[in-house]
Amino acid sequence: MTEENYIKAVEANKIPEDDVIGVDVNGYNLAVYNVEGEFFATDNICTHGNAKLCDGFLDGHRIECPLHQGEFDVRSGKACTSPLTEDIKAYPTKVGDDGFIYISMIE
Ligand code: FES
Repeated sequence: MTEENYIKAVEANKIPEDDVIGVDVNGYNLAVYNVEGEFFATDNICTHGNAKLCDGFLDGHRIECPLHQGEFDVRSGKACTSPLTEDIKAYPTKVGDDGFIYISMIE
């Protein structure tokens, strides 16, 4: 993966530790997570219904959907609990020298 695949998304210090925010990146609605100072990104809309994961509850590496409490692993996007049957897309992230989180939108 080359550098230019990464898109500048949001300042890392805008996301408190063990919290999640919703960010618009190039027209994509993403959820960006801070787990003990490590950053992860997934699509923001749950694969089960019309709920935003940024409104959910982050517990370690798991985000709980606010609507039916299904849980995804934010590292892989894997659907971990019912009623989820479909994984969510997860994206590689890195923090630049400028303090911004960069997200790779390339599959
Ligand atoms: S909408 Fe997310 S678990 Fe149902």
